[in-house]
Amino acid sequence: MGTPAIEIEGLTKDYAVGFWRKRMRRSLDNLTLQVQEGEAFGFLGPNGAGKTTTLKLLMSLIFPTAGTARVRGRSIDNVRMHREIGYLPEQPYFYDYLTARELLDYYARLFGYPAIERRQRVTRFLEHVGLADAGDVQLRKFSKGMLQRVGIAQAIIHDPQVVFLDEPMSGLDPVGRREVRDIILDLKRQGRTVFFSTHILSDAEMLCDRVAVLLGGKLQGVGAPGEIVSMEVYGMEIFFEMRAGSSLPTALAGHAARIGERYRVEVQEEQLYSALEQLRSCEARILSVTPRRPTLEDYFLKLVARDKAAAHPAGESAR
Ligand SMILES: Nc1ncnc2c1ncn2[C@@H]1O[C@H](COP(=O)(O)OP(=O)(O)OP(=O)(O)O)[C@@H](O)[C@H]1O
Ligand SMILES: [Mg+2]
Repeated sequence: MGTPAIEIEGLTKDYAVGFWRKRMRRSLDNLTLQVQEGEAFGFLGPNGAGKTTTLKLLMSLIFPTAGTARVRGRSIDNVRMHREIGYLPEQPYFYDYLTARELLDYYARLFGYPAIERRQRVTRFLEHVGLADAGDVQLRKFSKGMLQRVGIAQAIIHDPQVVFLDEPMSGLDPVGRREVRDIILDLKRQGRTVFFSTHILSDAEMLCDRVAVLLGGKLQGVGAPGEIVSMEVYGMEIFFEMRAGSSLPTALAGHAARIGERYRVEVQEEQLYSALEQLRSCEARILSVTPRRPTLEDYFLKLVARDKAAAHPAGESAR
């Protein structure tokens, strides 16, 4: 493996808080992380975890209290590094009365492309993000999903090798999320490195080679979504149907849930065969039996719960 695309070492950020800005609050605590060339990397964490702080530090929009970072071998305080990266801020604000084409032309101009090349690029990127027909529409008429896609086009108009996206799917409906996912997959296919923050875990699970989980400014774990979540089986989930007039086996009656015409019950792995036996004896029709493995979401919620418990140990009354 060559040079990592992103190398973060001990990155720390304290914000001055309070009326006189006398107190310091640590929002990012000694983050060390490497992202390889060509990876789609998900940066996960609940609200306030420090995701945006990290991205702003990497973009040199704010300065670290301690630590360093390099992108493609160049320190983040090297201005030349910034030509090679793209950035979609968390809540991008674009001037409403510009058209998508005008906005992208403006960004292409910042990168110094001559007029002919700008025109080609803008057309190419409008197409890439599925806005070929909306190029001449003013942004105030755009839906949230369309704005997000213009934002991504803006971030990649100069063909950066490394792309940073802060919550690219937030606030989008399933169609919009799918479109953004496809754009990220496209970038990945082209060999770009994509580093994006999200709290939509299913999207991260689908897209990312690896994820990092951040909580209260501290890194909790890094790994492939299937690796970071242990493969232990929680239990077995059985879906079944009952024949008209027959009743549930008593052992299962207490915890089977009815969903439309079907029933769902979850049993321990050891109890699977006896449960199936009982269902057979009352002539239930088994529709499916699936092992329940923890998802990234389960893992994430467990970490958050553990963190909350540490912040409010038993006995200490929560406010
Ligand atoms: N300019 C600032 N001054 C003081 N504190 C700040 C500032 N910016 C962020 N913080 C604090 O830093 C912590 C991390 O914030 P950050 O915006 O990085 O979180 P996030 O992970 O991006 O959350 P979200 O999912 O809500 O976007 C929060 O506690 C926040 O209140
Ligand atoms: Mg944020």
